[in-house]
Amino acid sequence: MRTVAMKTVAATSFTETTAEEWAFAVENGRRKYIADAGVAALKLLESQKDEPSTGWQVNNYQHSLSAATKALRNGEDEEYIVAVLLHDLAQDLDPMRHDRIAGTLLKPFLEPANHWMVANHQVFQLSFRTHSKFDTKACEKFRGHPFFEHTMRFCDLYDQSCFDPTAERLPLAEFEPMVRRAFGRVMQDRMGMYP
Ligand SMILES: [Fe+2]
Ligand SMILES: [Fe+2]
Repeated sequence: MRTVAMKTVAATSFTETTAEEWAFAVENGRRKYIADAGVAALKLLESQKDEPSTGWQVNNYQHSLSAATKALRNGEDEEYIVAVLLHDLAQDLDPMRHDRIAGTLLKPFLEPANHWMVANHQVFQLSFRTHSKFDTKACEKFRGHPFFEHTMRFCDLYDQSCFDPTAERLPLAEFEPMVRRAFGRVMQDRMGMYP
């Protein structure tokens, strides 16, 4: 009997899916998720490309590229550059908690120091504000934390100082292979567990 390769399963619900269809769907999913590792994060950042700024001379997309470009030029390691590029990924979802949201999204793909840095950068960023109704020393509650200096350094070098419209900004495509590698390493392991 001649078999024709499936393009999609015939089933329209889990309960009626055959073993062969499950095998087909799982294998297709595994290939897709590995091949597209990191793409969803890149798309979320790219969706902000043409948004107006909130009053700064650069928008969030430009700020992110400027910061990542500076990190690259300074010779930071690849995962750190990815963390810098994506640190404000969730700005539009909730400006007041965007660090926590980005931290949750990126946690599987970052080392603990870089994850903590992304997930807590807002309170550290306050330290650099010249005017604020919030406590600009609020990050002192974390003094002594193993990632305190790591996060303060990030906020100084790659956050508070990256709003200059004349600063070098490499295109997002320059960083795409780095993001794909960072996510891809984890996705390979994840797909070993794909049911
Ligand atoms: Fe931020
Ligand atoms: Fe930022």
